[in-house]
Amino acid sequence: MPAALGGAPVFVQTANNQEKLDQWQQITEAEAEMAYQMTLRNELSGGTPTVRQFEALWRERFGCKFAITVINGTSALHSAMFGLGIGPGDEVIVPSYTWICSISPALMLMARPVFCEIDPETLMIDPEDARRRITDRTKAIVAVHLWGNVCNMDALIELSRETGVPILEDCAHAHGATYKDQPCGSIGQVGTWSLQGSKPVSGGEGGVVATNDVAIFERACLIGQVNRVAGLDLITDKYKHLQPLGLGIKFRAHPLGIGIATIQLEKLDQLNKNRRTYIQSVEDSLVNIPGVRPIGKYDGAQPAGFYGFSIHYEAQDLGGLPKEKFIDALQKEGLAAKSNPYPLLHQLSLFADGFDLFTEDRGPLCTPEMGGDYQGYRTGDFPVTESVVTQLIFLPVFSQPTKDAAAQVVAAIRKVSAYADRL
Ligand SMILES: Cc1ncc(COP(=O)(O)O)c(C=O)c1O
Repeated sequence: MPAALGGAPVFVQTANNQEKLDQWQQITEAEAEMAYQMTLRNELSGGTPTVRQFEALWRERFGCKFAITVINGTSALHSAMFGLGIGPGDEVIVPSYTWICSISPALMLMARPVFCEIDPETLMIDPEDARRRITDRTKAIVAVHLWGNVCNMDALIELSRETGVPILEDCAHAHGATYKDQPCGSIGQVGTWSLQGSKPVSGGEGGVVATNDVAIFERACLIGQVNRVAGLDLITDKYKHLQPLGLGIKFRAHPLGIGIATIQLEKLDQLNKNRRTYIQSVEDSLVNIPGVRPIGKYDGAQPAGFYGFSIHYEAQDLGGLPKEKFIDALQKEGLAAKSNPYPLLHQLSLFADGFDLFTEDRGPLCTPEMGGDYQGYRTGDFPVTESVVTQLIFLPVFSQPTKDAAAQVVAAIRKVSAYADRL
């Protein structure tokens, strides 16, 4: 931590509580220098040169013709959904197992979330289950590359081709991931990233939306780039009559955050390499340990970002020992293991019971009691997701592990597995 920052943590790249095993320094003098120089130049608002340069880098790095920065990943999803033309009465399919912001912007556009199952091996959206939930109101499918793993993009693109439903890739956890050598975020019709403080590329807060589709891009600019767009971001004259104010909504990123993220982007390949080597080494060693096994990956998937590191727990291999007891024992061995941190969305009261979003019985989550036709969800509606997610164990993610960090992690798991019958 640079002394200039007073030694106080400002933001943390995927926090782990085993700092002794990780030597990565998220913030260095380079980020501080960038913020300092930008401040002296008064590069503090709007589409400054640093912001535009970052967007150019993003386009190149992630293989998209168009990219625009926004205040956070949530507003990136909001912009992307608006870009896709999602609006009142529409439905958006998303796995129940993701962070709420993968779908919450749809509510603000008055569209209704439709949850689907995940593939129990990979934890990614199950394309066949998504297919079953498509109706004539479906406007998009959100494919979340959760924890840095990669969705089955061949199946999703085929589904999109057959049905005409676009794919929005939420890459908030997966900066730099690829599928068959194509960058995630550039495979579906539109991609979004978060640059929030714990993300693999961070500006403290920030987000990016990118696409190869000019119509999606222009609408994405229209909704959030007030006073930034005229003659600069828009490609065609379609919305010229609305410039320079667009729709008068402001999702513009803070330039200092984007400056910091510019430095972070330079480190992404190294970060991914370090995390991948560590995770691969742990996963390879799990093969001979009863009770645990790695999360599956699709052919051609190259995970990255690694926002979380989960493994499957198999109680039946350990005499039915409950996962919580296994995790307790790992913790007693000094390993910072934990259970899945994300609630299943269909079990949140908001989506299970419905909600009068806009007051006076209006909005996409109004149940029959509220005058609507939202049916809500119950536990049991997603049996695959419900059972697999409760059996996950999350291990620490190390960004620059000490030489024996992976071995220490594996040793703790091996040891607990060996004495599991005595727990
Ligand atoms: C999967 C996923 N999508 C979207 C977001 C939203 O990003 P932000 O926090 O930058 O708004 C997050 C945040 O963690 C996320 O985990």
